[in-house]
Amino acid sequence: MSDNLKRAAAERAAELVTDGMRLGLGTGSTAAHFVAAIGERVRNGLKVVGVPTSEATRDQAQREGIPLSTLDETRDLDLTVDGADELDDDLRLIKGGGGALLREKIVASASQRMIVIADGSKHVAKLGRFPLPIEVVPFGLTATERAIARLLDSLGMSGELHLRHAPDGAAYVTDGGHFILDAHLGRIDKPNVLASTLNNIPGVVEHGLFMGLATGAILATGDRLVELGQ
Ligand code: 5RP
Repeated sequence: MSDNLKRAAAERAAELVTDGMRLGLGTGSTAAHFVAAIGERVRNGLKVVGVPTSEATRDQAQREGIPLSTLDETRDLDLTVDGADELDDDLRLIKGGGGALLREKIVASASQRMIVIADGSKHVAKLGRFPLPIEVVPFGLTATERAIARLLDSLGMSGELHLRHAPDGAAYVTDGGHFILDAHLGRIDKPNVLASTLNNIPGVVEHGLFMGLATGAILATGDRLVELGQ
């Protein structure tokens, strides 16, 4: 999908940012356009502070000259702007395609508002075509994988779990030192049930279902921007 659409959504989100805001800075190719747009405004005098959701975003934000903070120093954020892999009409999301879901969820949870920026292809009738990322601790990987498979089975869901790999062929390791299992489910009929039960499995650190966190979305389609929520 065209980079111009991602940039268009990101630049519209950047217009919502005003002096003094405490921002959560998302991760991924769409969020990178937002960070670039905020960087440009900071160099033109905008006063904000950002909390990055990944080491990659921290590096980019530093290069852009955006003043950075942590959630320990800045507990409450005004606005987080982040991409998504899928979102539905109720602003429920699948995130984590870029591997940053844990920090993304922590930062979004500390924010008064979370705006999703994406090209229109990410907007789906039902979540689940995009494989659901599940972040797990390396210890006991096989046992955790089996517990997730049992849970999916008990919920009447079928699908394969694939350990994510880095380009060099080694297991992909998140910023938090964890692995990711991508659950290829095809469709998720009851995302709220799956979201709450996955969190009960020892070894699961977090998963990419974001329920009740996004307050709005800016979606770039071929010829216009569609805004959902606020
Ligand atoms: C990273 C994410 C990203 O926001 C998601 O993967 C979308 O990325 P992109 O904007 O590159 O399509 O959740 O963990």
